[in-house]
Amino acid sequence: MNVLILNGPNLNLLGKREPEIYGSETLADIENAIRHRAFDQGLATDFLQTNHEGVMLDRIHEGRERFDAIIINPAAWSHTSVALLDALKAFEGRVIEVHLSNIHTREAFRHHSYISSRAEAVIAGMGSFGYLAAIDYLAR
Ligand code: DQA
Repeated sequence: MNVLILNGPNLNLLGKREPEIYGSETLADIENAIRHRAFDQGLATDFLQTNHEGVMLDRIHEGRERFDAIIINPAAWSHTSVALLDALKAFEGRVIEVHLSNIHTREAFRHHSYISSRAEAVIAGMGSFGYLAAIDYLAR
C-alpha cells in the first residue's frame, strides 16, 4: 500500500508554533516517526507539506493513480476549503484526517471541517501519535 501524507499551512512551523497546543516536535521529527512506523508495517510513504493550496490540490490530482490512501492534516484549510474537499472526492483511495489538537475543544470556527465528510476516519487531539494511529489503522 502506498500512502501519501499531506500537511497543510503553517505545519512547517511545528515545534516553534504555539507549542502548548501543537507540541515541541518538528514536522521532520513527526515525518521520521511516520516513515519508520510505515516501514515496520510494510507501507510505502511519500510526504508533502505546503503553505500553497494549489500545490496541495495538484499533488492530490497527481496522486490519483499512485496512492492507495492519503493521511491529511489540512490545518486551517479544514475549516475553509471546499476546493480541498472536492480534490479529495476526486481521489478514489482511502482518506484519513488527522489533527494534532482536539479541534472540538477550541474556538467555534475550528469545530467544522469540510474535509471530514470525505474522510473514512478523523483523529483529533492525540498529538503526533494521531498520524501513527492512522498508519496502524491503514495497515490492518
Ligand atoms: C490543526 C488544527 C487547525 O484548526 C489549525 O488551523 C492547524 C492545525 C491541528 O493539527 O490541530 O493549523 O489542523
